[in-house]
Amino acid sequence: MAKERAQWTGRLGFVLAAAGSAIGLGNLWKFPYITYENHGGAFVLVYLAAIAVVGVPIMMAEILLGRRSQRNAVGAFRVLGQGKPGGRLWQGVGFLGVMTVLSSSRTTASLRDGPSATSSWRSPASWARSRITPQICRRSSASFSAIPTSRSCISLSSWARRSGSSTSGVGRGIERAAKFLMPVLLSILVMLVIYSFWTPGFGEAMRFLFRPNFSELSAGGVLEALGHSFFTLSLGMGAMLTYGSYMRKRDSIPRAALTICALDTLIAIAACIIMFSIIFSFDFEVTKSSTILFTTLPVVFFQLPGGAAVSALFYVLVAFAALTSTISLLEVVASYAIDELGWRRQRATLTMGAAILAFGTLSAVSMGGNETLSKINLIGRPSTAGVFGTLDYLASNWFLPVGGLLIALFTGWILSRDETKEELEEGNGPLGWALPLWRFLIRIAAPAAVGAIIVSVILGAEYQ
Ligand code: PHE
Repeated sequence: MAKERAQWTGRLGFVLAAAGSAIGLGNLWKFPYITYENHGGAFVLVYLAAIAVVGVPIMMAEILLGRRSQRNAVGAFRVLGQGKPGGRLWQGVGFLGVMTVLSSSRTTASLRDGPSATSSWRSPASWARSRITPQICRRSSASFSAIPTSRSCISLSSWARRSGSSTSGVGRGIERAAKFLMPVLLSILVMLVIYSFWTPGFGEAMRFLFRPNFSELSAGGVLEALGHSFFTLSLGMGAMLTYGSYMRKRDSIPRAALTICALDTLIAIAACIIMFSIIFSFDFEVTKSSTILFTTLPVVFFQLPGGAAVSALFYVLVAFAALTSTISLLEVVASYAIDELGWRRQRATLTMGAAILAFGTLSAVSMGGNETLSKINLIGRPSTAGVFGTLDYLASNWFLPVGGLLIALFTGWILSRDETKEELEEGNGPLGWALPLWRFLIRIAAPAAVGAIIVSVILGAEYQ
């Protein structure tokens, strides 16, 4: 490819864009609710361990693959796999990523919307309505929940289009968006944490989160923590790989990966502190924890002093977090079209944005609302609802963990030690003891952990 590849303008640009991808509804909606379901404390500790053992090493691997190859997800595996065992077959991993993005547009839609079976991307007015006629609202909102996500893809496309040529695309488009959205997001979060400090439920929330009781942790909880660590860091579908391909050689991959993982984790914990402080401030029985973000919180907010303003802030935060994640999803397929099909950025983003809109809408329409939630969970049950429902099920239950496993195996076993060492040390300096540690994690620990998730999905699917 003769064309010079676009680059982030600096280290901060990359870190913010990648953190923007990682920080999403996985942090603000899913993590608090699975933490609640798994009784806090011990689950949080296991989650932290999963981020360290699975998340950080695979994050480093994905960025490494992108930057070394200077290619999109498919091109990266083709170039790096050349002359190695498996050769061109490894490209399949990249295709898996591209397919995951296309077919999981419904999944992201549900994530953006929360469990759309029970609630959707709603205006305050529709929340109010749903309290009066929840059933009716549920029905009507479920089918169309994919549309906001897809629509955001389209508006992003035009954003990217305005941002000019393909070489300046990421720097001027995505990076600019991240540099605006992420600081706003972080400031809102800090304000909300400070606010929650004054609520009566703060103490109980801290005890719930940080006082581990291992007798309350189940094997399923451990697997859920593992699966989630993967999802929350946007690993397994080439998003980090694609962003890594725009990273400058003089920046350090390990440092960037650690910063992204730390930011993502901090924000997940902060989201828990905020939500649990508010919920525990009331004698509120949470009957369905999966809907905390979209049904419990809006009601509770309004009973707090300054609730309306806090609530507005909070949902701006949620929207921004979802938006920056969506940008990275679109970039996986756009970058593929630009590199592999020779499209210009404008055409790539518009066409792929439209394709995601079509997929998202079709899968939303072809799928029953009430099963949505199980499809978002890594350990869920197969869909019975049409081709798109099935695709969606495959994406969230299989493609992500399988993609992650293959990324770990490729980087750990197929690439040579020297190749990976060179790329990880480029812009960082000698890694010393950290290199053998990373190699152990990427070759043994991460594949074992992700393998366990896959096995549990197989067993789970059989039983249901
Ligand atoms: N990491 C995002 C979240 O936590 C979800 C995501 C997964 C985004 C994969 C892009 C790619 O919500």
